[in-house]
Amino acid sequence: MELRILVGTMTGTAEAVAKDIEQVLAKAGHRTEIVLMDGRDASVFERNGSGCDAFLICTSTYGSGDVPDNAQRVFASLEEKRPDLRGIVYGVIALGDQTYGKTFCQGGLRFDKLLGELGAQRAGEALLHDASAGTMAEDVASEWILPWVERDLMPALAQRV
Ligand SMILES: Cc1cc2nc3c(=O)[nH]c(=O)nc-3n(C[C@H](O)[C@H](O)[C@H](O)COP(=O)(O)O)c2cc1C
Repeated sequence: MELRILVGTMTGTAEAVAKDIEQVLAKAGHRTEIVLMDGRDASVFERNGSGCDAFLICTSTYGSGDVPDNAQRVFASLEEKRPDLRGIVYGVIALGDQTYGKTFCQGGLRFDKLLGELGAQRAGEALLHDASAGTMAEDVASEWILPWVERDLMPALAQRV
């Protein structure tokens, strides 16, 4: 299994999460490609020849429930070009802070909504991390990732059309 992790971050937490996940998955024999979303566009979801089976959106939230600056271009490009993403299987790790109320984790959740509209299929539920909860996002995600791969991602990849 190869997972491409698309990272949206302002202060580096989401990137640290991706790096820890890469280590956990490597020990389990899975390949990971970490892609910072800076300067990328909707073509980051193209699978042609890359061997990439699945995507994991790993992004924080800023402004009033916005995606981080480095992910704005990918998001806008998806909204504008509206590529057909049927056959893409993805997961979401959304980083946020409950003290922001209604916009909690909206960066990741906005990606989730848009990818679903474009035909991509989410495997399992999104992981929402609350920075005010007293846990480290890296720790929570490291414990979440393998069960997610085995319980949700693998079956979704096996069943996709
Ligand atoms: C200026 C600012 C605005 C934020 N706005 C939101 C928000 O609207 N909703 C939310 O859930 N979290 C919000 N957060 C919390 C971050 O998303 C959270 O701390 C996250 O873990 C940061 O990850 P990063 O280091 O990868 O950017 C905000 C943080 C800052 C500093």
